[in-house]
Amino acid sequence: MSGSPFRLIHGGRSEEPTPGLLIVGASEVVTVAGGIRAGERQSDVGRLSAAEVGGPDAPDAPVVACWEGRIAAVGPRAALEAALEAEGYPLGRFARIDAGGGTVTPGLVDPHTHLLFAGSREDEWGMRQRGAGYLEILEAGGGILSTVAATRAASVDELMAHGRRWLDEMLGHGVTTIEAKSGYGLDLETEIRLLEAAHRLGKEGPIDIVPTYLGAHAVPPEFRSRPDGTEAYVRSVIEEQLPGVAAHGRARFCDVFCEGGVFSADQSRRILETAAGFGMQLRLHADELAPSGGAELAAELGAYSADHLATPSPAGIEALAGAAAAAAASPDGPRPVVATVLPATTWFLMKDHGAPARAFIDNGIPVALGTDFNPGTSPTASLPLAMTVACLELGLTPDEALTAVTANAAWSIGLEEEVGSLEPGKSADLVIWRVPTSTQIPYWPAADLARTVIKRGRVVVDRG
Ligand code: NIG
Ligand code: FE
Repeated sequence: MSGSPFRLIHGGRSEEPTPGLLIVGASEVVTVAGGIRAGERQSDVGRLSAAEVGGPDAPDAPVVACWEGRIAAVGPRAALEAALEAEGYPLGRFARIDAGGGTVTPGLVDPHTHLLFAGSREDEWGMRQRGAGYLEILEAGGGILSTVAATRAASVDELMAHGRRWLDEMLGHGVTTIEAKSGYGLDLETEIRLLEAAHRLGKEGPIDIVPTYLGAHAVPPEFRSRPDGTEAYVRSVIEEQLPGVAAHGRARFCDVFCEGGVFSADQSRRILETAAGFGMQLRLHADELAPSGGAELAAELGAYSADHLATPSPAGIEALAGAAAAAAASPDGPRPVVATVLPATTWFLMKDHGAPARAFIDNGIPVALGTDFNPGTSPTASLPLAMTVACLELGLTPDEALTAVTANAAWSIGLEEEVGSLEPGKSADLVIWRVPTSTQIPYWPAADLARTVIKRGRVVVDRG
């Protein structure tokens, strides 16, 4: 390690080695560096402000240097350039990008999407506006099941074309990494087609995709007519689908829709324990519509994340707080279970309350935010919009919301070593926003604020 004030990284992994990049002229560089954040630290975003040192073009204004697809250093420009030079970096090979007084943040991470499906469900939305319940529509064979019918009929090429269209939209909103679930196949063949499409789209880039197997998303039609339909389907997930999905090797996570009337906590436990036995990491749809023991189960199994949590029981909150405290007590101990909250979903479902995110923060539970992008409960691919709803309806501050879509979201999907903050050695994924402070990102809802998006040191959106 050099004696310089910056930890500099030489080389790195990148499909397309680029010369260096130096991002200058920012009003703010927000690093979100320093690990997962819970409690009071949820709002500690690591803001470096140019206003305090004479403005975006002052010698001490914060800049970000990237080299071969990795963050090399973040800090005051003059000192950082001197340090780069002292380390032997060829300063002439750093392309400069002028942020024009905008804000630089890490690329956003969406830790919960149902990216791949066919069709749309605006008719069902109309039914819900006239008073029908979400689970009632599913019970009657609509909801998730209508998307399953359309998805089973779609080819891998059709699914990928649909995926590209929405990934493009996500990228335009500053998102550079996502999690994407299967769950609209509900048979081995279609589930694998969805996981394969997610995997190939991630390879295509620029957005990195973490695929999740969600075979237990609903009981498919061919099992519903049987008296023991749910139990028979759970057995088919455990005995047939999971071994097939594990052999296919694309799914990093296994997820279950743990909800009264869908899969019970006991059924979810059996599925998730089997998945863990195949080496998959765990997450679950927990307590979305009613308390169902999902938060408790996530804590019991050491899941990476419990998602939704719009209606956790007090015992569920306690269980997540216990997991967070155990993780905080020992750095080499268990991971905390991230509360991955999905405010666009409760908004679109017209619920009178969303997840108790303030209680999570007050209890030291790390909070992440996702879009839950899907055709039934959250047809938006905009993570900044989810931030806005989180601030308006759940009482998060803009800083807490930024942590939730960067560092904590990366933890939710197990990519905390790679993405979610601007720290030397991490992937050079960043966004230049055309606002002077990151607190304005959720403040202008539905605006296209991402001016420049950089993935692995390469400019992939340029609206400069
Ligand atoms: O996260 N609730 C389960 N899954 C999705 C909705 C899926 C759908 O309605 O198509 C969710 O809300
Ligand atoms: Fe979901």
